Amino acid sequence: MVKEEARTDWTGKRGKQGAFLMARPVRRLEEALLGRSSAALLKRVFSILKGDMVVLDVGCGSGYLSLPIARKLDSGRVICVDLSEEMLAGLARRARAAAVSDRIQVIRTAVDTTGLADAAVEVVVSNNLLHELHDPVAAVTEWERVLKPGGHMALSDFRTTRLTNLLMSHEHGEEANDPFDVEGLRTLLQEAGLENVEVTPYRNKLLALADKPA
Ligand SMILES: C[S@@+](CC[C@H](N)C(=O)[O-])C[C@H]1O[C@@H](n2cnc3c(N)ncnc32)[C@H](O)[C@@H]1O
Repeated sequence: MVKEEARTDWTGKRGKQGAFLMARPVRRLEEALLGRSSAALLKRVFSILKGDMVVLDVGCGSGYLSLPIARKLDSGRVICVDLSEEMLAGLARRARAAAVSDRIQVIRTAVDTTGLADAAVEVVVSNNLLHELHDPVAAVTEWERVLKPGGHMALSDFRTTRLTNLLMSHEHGEEANDPFDVEGLRTLLQEAGLENVEVTPYRNKLLALADKPA
């Protein structure tokens, strides 16, 4: 069977609007209404981050996670992976404005074919990506591969609830995964070989933390 080509819906006009809106204070409203999982993600990442680390942000968009993480690094860098040209253009503009371009490396590719070497990064993060994926198993398998032994994964996304089912069922097409429940995401990460898997609901969102065995 030929593998379906990965794609994103965040292109063209929608990509430009997304890159703009996803970098605005309106995100605080989203978090207040839906759940503060990405704030919890950043808190966790900052607690383990060292200035020389390499962090991979998959589905980075216009830099919602990458930019605050890059600000905390000195010799380290954030590798930012996304398929959307418009989102990555927004990220480049914001990185210049925040004077962190030297700590940002952009790779325009699908999140399940990063092209990175095995064990290339110490931390993998993502926000609001999992529900868009057509093949979450392939994606998580790739992220586990590129993580160093003992490395950390922190993923935040929508959780399946009555509200998210109403707002976003098949928002990204019939093939998209749609939001996970706590158990489904825990199983996905455990089956990819990760340990210390903890999935915590935050109202309509969730935060998953996991480690690659040392
Ligand atoms: C909802 S946005 C979230 C962006 C960012 N993480 C944030 O929180 O603002 C999802 C991003 O994932 C990207 N994306 C979706 N599926 C992808 C795939 N298979 N490969 C690469 N990027 C993908 C989209 O282009 C988009 O920029």
